[in-house]
Amino acid sequence: MRDHEIPGHLATYLNQSPIALALADARDDNPLLFINHGFRELTGYTGEEVIGHNCRMLQRDADNDEARERIREFLASERQLNVRTMLINFRKDGSPFVNLLYMSKLRQLDGRMPFIFASQFDVSRSQPDRLVAYDAELGRTIGKLTPVLAESGMVLEGSLTAIANTAATIAQAKLTLSDLDRASFP
Ligand SMILES: Cc1cc2nc3c(=O)[nH]c(=O)nc-3n(C[C@H](O)[C@H](O)[C@H](O)COP(=O)(O)O)c2cc1C
Repeated sequence: MRDHEIPGHLATYLNQSPIALALADARDDNPLLFINHGFRELTGYTGEEVIGHNCRMLQRDADNDEARERIREFLASERQLNVRTMLINFRKDGSPFVNLLYMSKLRQLDGRMPFIFASQFDVSRSQPDRLVAYDAELGRTIGKLTPVLAESGMVLEGSLTAIANTAATIAQAKLTLSDLDRASFP
């Protein structure tokens, strides 16, 4: 397997998941290599429009300095297994949303790290029960990924930590979105 090729059975598995999922190359500027149906539905972009690009294109000119710093630290770190952070993103039609992004690393058994795994969720238009359901689905997706990855000699690093306070997380995201709307349409 060449480093940047997504094994077919992995793509098939990720495509079956109802939540937004993406894989990027762990090298260079982390170009996207794969997005599933959930990602297309969430963002409005097709594979042709985003594959080969860094996912920061979803941020347009939003000020996500703190979240981006946390992501850069995660990407640069050998020890940090995952990261969970909220970012302001825009769909293809220009509408903003607060993206609750989860990222972890796929590693080959020989230590090489070919891919970064990510999942996206619009937390700003959600309700606590939907966030809980998303978290449970992400946990299931990650859990069932283990045997799928094992076929290609890979492991997903880190395990999902559930959101401690879903109501507070959503309230914060809704506030961020309304601040953004006020700034755009004063
Ligand atoms: C697999 C993967 C998926 C990502 N998904 C998103 C995303 O949905 N939205 C987003 O704003 N950033 C996403 N990112 C993060 C950005 O690509 C980038 O790493 C981040 O903005 C920090 O780098 P920068 O400060 O150089 O932009 C993703 C990164 C990777 C590797």
